[in-house]
Order: sequence, then C-alpha cells, then structure tokens
Amino acid sequence: MSLATTDVEFKHLLNPLQIGDLNLKNRIFMAPMTRSRAGTERVPNELMATYYAQRASAGLIISEATSISKQAIGWLNTPGIFNDAQVEGWKTVVSKVHQEQCPMYLQLWHCGRASHSSFQDGGVLPVSASALKIENDQIHTPLGKLPYEVPRAIETSEIAGIVADYKAAAERAKQAGFDGVEIHGANGYLIDQFLQSKTNQRQDQYGGSVENRLCFLKEVLEAVLTVWPANRVAVRLSPNGRYNDMGSDDYQETFLAAAKLLDGYKLAYLHIMDGTGFGAPENGPPMTLQDFRAVYSGTLIGNVGYTPETAEKAITSGLADAIAFGRPFITNPDLVARVQHGWPLNISEDMSTWYAFDAHGYTDYPVYHE
Ligand SMILES: Cc1cc2nc3c(=O)[nH]c(=O)nc-3n(C[C@H](O)[C@H](O)[C@H](O)COP(=O)(O)O)c2cc1C
Repeated sequence: MSLATTDVEFKHLLNPLQIGDLNLKNRIFMAPMTRSRAGTERVPNELMATYYAQRASAGLIISEATSISKQAIGWLNTPGIFNDAQVEGWKTVVSKVHQEQCPMYLQLWHCGRASHSSFQDGGVLPVSASALKIENDQIHTPLGKLPYEVPRAIETSEIAGIVADYKAAAERAKQAGFDGVEIHGANGYLIDQFLQSKTNQRQDQYGGSVENRLCFLKEVLEAVLTVWPANRVAVRLSPNGRYNDMGSDDYQETFLAAAKLLDGYKLAYLHIMDGTGFGAPENGPPMTLQDFRAVYSGTLIGNVGYTPETAEKAITSGLADAIAFGRPFITNPDLVARVQHGWPLNISEDMSTWYAFDAHGYTDYPVYHE
C-alpha cells in the first residue's frame, strides 16, 4: 500500500537546521531503531553500514540503541560500544554515512530490568533502580522467549561504576567518529526506570523526590559532558509511553522537572516522544510539545506517529525544531526525496523483519521511481 503525500509545501521541514557547529541539511531526523543485525558478537557490520547509508539523506541519523556495557545488554544481536571491535565496526558505518554528508549520533543504552540473566555474565540477575519486574510480558533471550525476572536493585555504591560505563561508551563513540551522542532516557530502560516513581522506590539519594529520581540522569549526563561538548549531547525522553510496563501517576511533574533540569545544559537537543502511538498515560492527558516548549528553551525534537504534513505543522508553529521519523524510514530509505518531490510514501509494514537478522526487510526496500 502507498500513501500519496499532499501538495503541502514542506518548506520548514526541508529547511536546514543549525545545532551548535553542525549544519543539518533538513529537519527530518532518522529516529533510533533497534534492528538486531549486529550478530552475536554485537559488532556493527557492512550490512548495517549499507542500511544507514541508504537513509543518509536525513538531516541527522540517530543510531539504534547501543549497549554501553555487557551488563546493559537486553536484546538479541544488538550492537555494543564497549570493546575495540565494536568501535572499528561503527567506524565503517559512520564513514559510509559521512560520505553522504549526513551526521550521525550514537544512542547510548542500558536496558536495566528489560534484560534477563541469560544475557548477563555469570547468569546473574539484571539490575534496576528497584527490585520490580516488568509484568505481563516476555523477553526474547538466548534461551528463547521467557518471562521477565525480578531484577536486583542497584546498590548505591555501584552507581558510580555504571556512570563510568556511560562515560567510557561516550569516549568510544568519539573514537568511532560519531558526531554526538543521544542518551537513551526513554521507553522504560534504565534511566527511565530511575526517573519514574513506578519503577524507582529507592530510599537513598537516587529515589523518593522527583529531584532525587533525576540524579541518575544528571550524573550520566555530566559524565558524558566531560567527553563531548554540550552541543553534541542529546537526551531522549518518553513522557507518555507505557512500553516496558511504564507509566507513573506523577508523569507530568516528573518529565517537566526533567526538561527544566536539561534546559540548563544547552544540549544539542531534547528528543521527546510526544505521540501516543506507543501507548498513552492512563491517568491524564498525554504530554505535548507545547508542555515542553513552555519549560525548555533549546532545540526540541518531536517523534511518534508524525507524517510529513503534521511534522511541517509542528515546525511551522514553532513547537518543534525538527521531527524524528522511525517506521517511515524503515520502508522509505529515500524518505527525504519523497517529501521533496511529493512522491508517495511506502507504508507497507512488515513487523516480522523489524528484528530479523538479515538483509530482507532491512536493506531491500526500494527507492521511488517515477
Ligand atoms: C523497529 C523499531 C525499533 C526501535 N528501536 C528503538 C531504539 O533502539 N531506541 C529508541 O529510543 N526507540 C526505538 N524505537 C522507537 C522509535 O525511535 C520511534 O520512537 C517510534 O518508531 C515512533 O516513531 P514513528 O511513529 O515515526 O515510527 C523503535 C521503533 C521501532 C519500530
């Protein structure tokens, strides 16, 4: 099936965007998307380089979530950034993307409780802010599909070590040639587990008040900022999402406080999953870009469920500076050209190839021919 783009002129979406010293050729970002093509050694490869290079007409590519350490792993065949071979693999990917004049950020990822002991060295339990498991869901593990386990609450004394892993990953991202890093604070992974009252019931300085729950993010960010200048560091948040059994009663207070905190750092951008296509809050209205604009003065990126038309509107109205597209980039490697020329978008969605392990449904989506 295909969807024709309308006659709307996508003037703002196609406008360049300056972020710090980086001049992005348009405001169509490629959202971070796990595609599980890195093999069991989690080393980025030529197939991944081809996939990203095919999509390098984007203003900015944000890589798929990438594990900062072995402990951070929670998905099959996802890439890492914790050893030299992975740095070398990423170099190949980044240099192919750079050949197309597209900058690329690496998304730094720790799964926390969204992992399983079969991924962990020594078969130990995955860690989280508190010993609370993901309910009513299963995880794909090296042993097959299994129920989530109750994670082990991270000791206060262990936190500095995990923060150091983020810093080391940020350093390796620099060695690999990335243009910046996006800290994955969304979708129920470790940072989100610390942020939200539903998953953080700690009694120490990392739990309790909103201010305390922000501490882990703050320490990770400040460690990364010792490696990269602020205008090359971004944060992603999912205030509305329910994925990974998230959703807290105080979501508005939590995420507004997070945005206010982040506003002080003059980051490259704040990436908000404002759409509700991946779940919506149960106890109130979804948070919008307007909510975040009111407290965040820097570059703001919206995401989830946008079409070129709604993206153009969000940018024209000043709510967003750019929009990240996820699924449209899977099926339209030439998404930017399609927007530019008013060509129809391919919206056929084959979810069975999202996390499959080969070229099919990955690098074989065709570009548009008139
Ligand atoms: C196959 C797939 C993998 C994804 N992997 C990630 C990821 O690694 N990191 C992340 O922050 N979000 C991830 N997401 C969420 C996307 O970045 C994006 O938020 C989502 O697709 C909604 O945007 P869209 O409506 O434009 O597709 C993933 C989504 C999909 C469909």
